[in-house]
Amino acid sequence: MSQGVVTVAYIGATILFILSLGGLSRPEASRRGNLFGIFGMTLALAATIIGVVSANYFILFGAVIVGGTIGLILAKKVSMTQMPELVAILHSLVGLAAVLVGFANFLVHDTSIVGIDRTIHDVETCLGIFIGALTFSGSVVAFLKLSAKISGKPLLLPARHWFNAALLVGAIWFGARFIGQSAVGDGTAPLLGLTVLALIFGVHMVMAIGGADMPVVVSMLNSYSGWTAAATGFMLNNDLLIVVGALVGSSGAILSYIMCRAMNRKFIAVIAGGFGTSSGTAGSGPVGEAGDIVAVDGAEAAELLQNAREVVIIPGYGMAVAQAQHVVHEITRKLREKKINVRFAIHPVAGRMPGHMNVLLAEAHVPYDIVFELEEINAEFPRVDVSVVIGANDIVNPAAQEVPDSPIAGMPVLECWKGKTTIVLKRSMATGYAGVENPLFYKENTRMLFGDARDSLDIVLKNLD
Ligand code: TAP
Repeated sequence: MSQGVVTVAYIGATILFILSLGGLSRPEASRRGNLFGIFGMTLALAATIIGVVSANYFILFGAVIVGGTIGLILAKKVSMTQMPELVAILHSLVGLAAVLVGFANFLVHDTSIVGIDRTIHDVETCLGIFIGALTFSGSVVAFLKLSAKISGKPLLLPARHWFNAALLVGAIWFGARFIGQSAVGDGTAPLLGLTVLALIFGVHMVMAIGGADMPVVVSMLNSYSGWTAAATGFMLNNDLLIVVGALVGSSGAILSYIMCRAMNRKFIAVIAGGFGTSSGTAGSGPVGEAGDIVAVDGAEAAELLQNAREVVIIPGYGMAVAQAQHVVHEITRKLREKKINVRFAIHPVAGRMPGHMNVLLAEAHVPYDIVFELEEINAEFPRVDVSVVIGANDIVNPAAQEVPDSPIAGMPVLECWKGKTTIVLKRSMATGYAGVENPLFYKENTRMLFGDARDSLDIVLKNLD
């Protein structure tokens, strides 16, 4: 295949990726966005395998078959609630690939690259390996935190900012030594030194970030994986990898910014770590222990709903765990048949990944036009008769506004307590992801409906006549 055809295919793939990102920004266009992404990736792979690769087809196809099979099995097996962990571990593979490509590139040592070109190439190698290694180790730690294999509490070493600065200075020193030695065909030791420091940097960076900030970490690592791919593109002289890496890197950065805004946090403060340290107790005392909660059963909840005119449903992580989205849709349909206005309120960090709730509601065929973002619906709550909080906790926690030293202080929340009645569906009095006690449960107009959200909603549905 001629270079011209490869270039045209790469431009086509780039356009498809841009259309894909555009589609993924709106729930109603997201399926189309995914399709564009799949076509773009198929085109990019075909052009690279046929037009760019010229040897080692046996190893290439072997790796594609083994890797593709593992990917297919994992994608089929993974449940929606494990998606963030899957995403984190996939980011780690992008980082690892960049490190391996960097070392392979260095070991081949193309002697035709000399002078300033050599220096530029070596800087690209250092950057690719540095960002790749920190993405790899940071993503592995994020995976361990998200899957609760290690504690989500931030690790706050004394003088941690100095430690980070020392790691950076050390990495620059190793990088400079590598560039000096690479010109004479050496440099393995400083490159290994740089890699080790980047690995430590990645571990330390994510260990220092608290549970409540994990949404930002996931999107930040997404961004890093993009920049890693771009750096690999520079190393390999591959335009498509540079462009696609930059697209992923910048969209991940924008998403991190949106997540920070959603949580009213400054990006630098998140990276510096420490947020999310629990000051509330994470205990899950027996129901009623704290005194003034009012529990209702499914029939009473159905009664409240039937007598309402305005209903807002607030889904959270527990709806995903209980897989209650289909019965939620059934209830919505029944209530709308009774001319009750039902709307959904989506918090930007509800669940465990960006867009988590939108995906679940779309899967259950909830119409998009009754699904609203936090800023679109928050002012409506004083006019709402019944808010139904389904397995959500942190995103409806008034402590964010009422308790100045709360770990989630300042985070915008869905102000359902301003409505007439709030029904909260959960299994116990346990705290949510951020480990913060929730005063909503003790408010006068709150009714607790204890149990698995799907079981409870099945009973509610049966009681709607
Ligand atoms: P959470 O605050 O985690 O609360 C979920 C609640 O669901 C829990 O209190 C739990 O209480 C309940 N629950 C769990 N399983 C249930 C079931 N089967 N039936 C009924 N209830 C169930 O969730 P949220 O309000 O959606 O807030 C999201 C949190 O995750 C935020 O702190 C956010 O920062 C964090 N986070 C978000 C992301 C993204 S990008 N969205 C990524 C990482 C972390 P019980 O145990 O008592 O049932």
